[in-house]
Amino acid sequence: MDPQGSGGTRGHATKTVRDREAPGSTGFCSDRLGPCRRGLTMKLRNSTAMTSVAIAVDSLARSFGQTHALVDVSLEVPRGSVCALLGRNGAGKTTAVRILTTLLSADSGRAHVAGFDVLSQADKVRTRIGVTGQTATMDELLTGQENLEIVGRFCHLGAATSRRRANVLLHEFDLVDAKDRLVKKYSGGMKRRLDLAASLIAEPEVLFLDEPTTGLDPISRREMWTAIRTLVSRGTTVLLTTQYLDEADQLADTIVVIDRGLVVAQGTPEQLKASIGRPHVRVTLPDLDAAALEHEVFSTVTGHSDGAGLTAKATEKDG
Ligand SMILES: Nc1ncnc2c1ncn2[C@@H]1O[C@H](COP(=O)(O)OP(=O)(O)O)[C@@H](O)[C@H]1O
Ligand SMILES: [Mg+2]
Repeated sequence: MDPQGSGGTRGHATKTVRDREAPGSTGFCSDRLGPCRRGLTMKLRNSTAMTSVAIAVDSLARSFGQTHALVDVSLEVPRGSVCALLGRNGAGKTTAVRILTTLLSADSGRAHVAGFDVLSQADKVRTRIGVTGQTATMDELLTGQENLEIVGRFCHLGAATSRRRANVLLHEFDLVDAKDRLVKKYSGGMKRRLDLAASLIAEPEVLFLDEPTTGLDPISRREMWTAIRTLVSRGTTVLLTTQYLDEADQLADTIVVIDRGLVVAQGTPEQLKASIGRPHVRVTLPDLDAAALEHEVFSTVTGHSDGAGLTAKATEKDG
């Protein structure tokens, strides 16, 4: 039963789940900063009963032929928090999102979303999540308002509720003036905001955003950040993927860094930044005599007259 009465979800998560395959290889623990797999496994056993955990992932692995998209990914996202899955192109971010949104099965490992197993309780998961994929999914030949209302109907909200939710979201995402315009005439930023609005029609407990700002200009990017912050302030749990450290830093409570399908670091933005080390300035001066100027140059560049927290080194120039 759907406790929110939303009766469905939208976008990718409503598509037929394909290519389920038999479990295969198991992964291994690679976390440097996060809890080890054994600890996560123990937590995961209790996760369906734990209302405080919105997403629990234990050792997910998925390959496509010889390509190991996910080797070993474990993470936990508390309810009402934002987790950023940070990684470069091909790191495995979208594969993880597709598994968590029931669109793809894992070769091995387990995942619970909103307290339900993504494999054996996929229907329950789908009624509780929203998804905004990497590319815009709205119908370009319909208006913004029409798109949102149709998504509401797909989610079995009924005509009146769909219209009411569409109006609320158009207002929240600053699309009221453009609501009767065809989506093909929207800017890139407006299309992304409409996508985000659509994923919220059924008021999902957990929202997945796959690279929500990739390709956007700086202003649209900031507007998108504001929109994401607004919905987070209402208690929605968000897992977003990004290639940008600054985006993860701006939006996330916890960051999970993945590379070639492995978790290579995880923690709060502050923990990750602290693990990278102190700011470092290297000053190259023309000769060693000039090193006497080091402190003055350093003070000018950094504004730290005492050099606190920073280091500088004068290096003799080659030749
Ligand atoms: N359906 C697929 N078939 C074959 N290879 C895939 C498929 N989906 C993803 N991959 C491969 O898996 C790796 C991870 O892809 P993906 O999860 O999309 O990474 P990211 O979203 O971090 O860019 C890449 O090497 C990609 O080419
Ligand atoms: Mg991707």
